[in-house]
Amino acid sequence: MCGIIGYVGTEDAVPIIVEGLKKLEYRGYDSAGVAICQKDGFAVVKQEGRLNALEARLAERPIAGHMGIGHTRWATHGEPSDANSHPHVGSRNMIAVVHNGIIENYRQLKEFLEKKGVPFISQTDSEVVAQLCEYYYSGDIMEAVIKVVNRLEGSYALGIMCLEEPDTLVAVKKDNPLIIGVSGHGQFIASDVPAVLKHTNKVYYLNDKEIAMLRKGDVRFFNFDKEPLQKPVETVTWNIDSAEKGGWPHFMLKEIMEQPRILRDTINSAAGGGNGTVIGRLDVARFNKIVLTACGSAYNAGMVARYVFERLCRLPVEVELASEFRYRDTVIDAKTLVILISQSGETADTIAAMREAKSKEATTLAIVNVVGSTIAKEADECLFTAAGPEIAVATTKAFSAQLVLLYCLAVRFGARLGKLAEKEEREMLAEIDGLPDKAAKVLEQIDAIQKYASACVVYKSIFFIGRNIDYAIALEGSLKLKEISYIHSEAYAGGELKHGTISLVEEETLVVAIANCERLYGKIMSNAEQVISRGAKVLLIGNCPYAEQNGKLSGIRLPECADLFSPSLSVIVLQLFAYYVAANKGLDIDKPRNLAKSVTVE
Ligand code: AGP
Ligand code: GLU
Repeated sequence: MCGIIGYVGTEDAVPIIVEGLKKLEYRGYDSAGVAICQKDGFAVVKQEGRLNALEARLAERPIAGHMGIGHTRWATHGEPSDANSHPHVGSRNMIAVVHNGIIENYRQLKEFLEKKGVPFISQTDSEVVAQLCEYYYSGDIMEAVIKVVNRLEGSYALGIMCLEEPDTLVAVKKDNPLIIGVSGHGQFIASDVPAVLKHTNKVYYLNDKEIAMLRKGDVRFFNFDKEPLQKPVETVTWNIDSAEKGGWPHFMLKEIMEQPRILRDTINSAAGGGNGTVIGRLDVARFNKIVLTACGSAYNAGMVARYVFERLCRLPVEVELASEFRYRDTVIDAKTLVILISQSGETADTIAAMREAKSKEATTLAIVNVVGSTIAKEADECLFTAAGPEIAVATTKAFSAQLVLLYCLAVRFGARLGKLAEKEEREMLAEIDGLPDKAAKVLEQIDAIQKYASACVVYKSIFFIGRNIDYAIALEGSLKLKEISYIHSEAYAGGELKHGTISLVEEETLVVAIANCERLYGKIMSNAEQVISRGAKVLLIGNCPYAEQNGKLSGIRLPECADLFSPSLSVIVLQLFAYYVAANKGLDIDKPRNLAKSVTVE
């Protein structure tokens, strides 16, 4: 899930590409590279490691030109190394390519080309695209690209330059995102909107199996039969500031602090406009089951939503990892509502789950943050979270926006089904409406949370427990912590610890207990006592009344809140906790090792 960018125009392409790559680095950071089309050949500079390593190389060996492509890599085929970095150039130095995705039949294609005497220099799947394109090129780059893509199996977003057509940048995609930006001084291709926002907010969203031919003054679109296509240009409403750090030490902290506003915006958009219409349009009486499917944190949002939908809609609700759903021959049909949750709208497993659900005639409803993304376009219905661009790899504000949107949906759903009386519906919506202010109150406790977290870097293992909906949000607390702090962590339903995992509890263990479900206060406190008596320390987050804090028990209190919606408050403490543990370890919080934000491969 690399980031790709390209530019053709009147300006020097190199600074534009490097600037754009900075906005895409969340997609991968194993290596970075840039290729510029010059009169006598491609000037290519690529470098293993972070983007600043590439910048240092470019400072030593400056290159310039008006058309170029750039790449920031998350390796799938071939180790992170200079040779495996993109852009890849064919052996005749005629075609340069950046690729996001996986060419599944690259071995066969490589063998085919090697038999024709084509030498390969990298271990990547992507290099075959450059070599194959050279093989087919005979004076018409669009023709060559069509021949190439007709032989590719797998997924790709490609930026392609041909030395013999130095004024044309070619873009094509299947199953990986690509947008085309248009500005007064030139045209862009990019994996994501923030990469071009500094120059333009006018974009085209490329669909699968469409080709874009970009020149200094225009962009033309074609299908694989070379027939011209008309596409609407769209105006992005995201603000450039939301993709900038704005004085904060990390994007993650900035995004955590933005949450009261994001909650408010998402609640407002759920109440009216396009989102409101979608909720109104859903034929709720048709469904006898709801399946929530997603990956990672979005899956955890689904886990929280299960409790809310079950309680408010009285329908069977299942939650399934998208990577499992897609291969599990799930029992769903035209009476099932499948809710897909995804910040990026591009997660490969979630896309596959959506297509599987559609093939079984289920209704698909997506909760997505990125307008124009694959899931947003393909799902039967789509509700947008109003989180704006989220840059830190670890999601915070987009997760919180998913939660409130799911709450709003569940309340409306339950009311339309007649499971909630009008008064209850009003009370629930008022409760949700109060969340942004309560979230702001939680953020006021930032110093206490920081102080507590600073002392937690010493722990080798941290467990998160909760019961009922508190268990669902404990899963997110644990994921957040391990993602950015690299401390081992697991989340358990409070009652489940004693069935095995409690054997891992010893002096050097911290147990974070979430306690917002009033009817289960006694139970979760018993679980806390069980681990304290085995040497663990406990941090209690929530409203549960507890005895004096002491060396073994500490607490962070949350504002009063209906238990169903309390995960929106607990999660802020959990996010800040993970953030400050990682910050105290001096880690690269916005770009944790081995991860990338948008997982567009299986
Ligand atoms: C969250 O912090 C993770 N980076 C990851 O689990 C993420 O939630 C998951 O990959 C799903 O992404 P999506 O929401 O873009 O589909
Ligand atoms: N498969 C390509 C590589 O490993 C691109 C990877 C990706 O887009 O994630 O270089």
